[in-house]
Amino acid sequence: MKKNIEQAIIEQIQKEEHSSRLYLQMAIWCEINGFPGAAAFLYKHSDEERLHQLKFIHFLNDREGMALLKPLETPQSDYPSLKEMFEKILEHEKFISASINQIYGLTLQEKDYTTASFIHWFINEQIEEETLVRTILDKMKLAGDGQNRGLYLIDKELGVMAASGH
Ligand code: FEO
Repeated sequence: MKKNIEQAIIEQIQKEEHSSRLYLQMAIWCEINGFPGAAAFLYKHSDEERLHQLKFIHFLNDREGMALLKPLETPQSDYPSLKEMFEKILEHEKFISASINQIYGLTLQEKDYTTASFIHWFINEQIEEETLVRTILDKMKLAGDGQNRGLYLIDKELGVMAASGH
């Protein structure tokens, strides 16, 4: 594997690990602020990011590269509202999608079609994740800011999504 592609995957491993910790910290915020459904949803989402991280690690090791772990930034721990938290999630997922697309572009540039094919799974995964978060945000907007009953129902729905594997 070309060194520049290996380096890009190592950086992606770090981003997926950070995503996992970001959502874990968000889940904690939800749990202590009365949103048990959103907490369950985000604990699960944090686990999924950890699986993404592992997927990149195994791929790199299998392709005669070597996965390396890097220092991580401290995730944001406080949020003004549940809606603003989900806006942050969407923004973060867009950042991750851009990063995945950049790796894909690099694999094509280097004619590394094996890695390009592997990255394809993540491109589709990012479309799903962004759509899911947008749907949740749309529901929150419909519920309106500060509408406790609306938020209560959305939280319940997030709990159901987490239990059914969203
Ligand atoms: Fe691993 Fe949510 O992207």
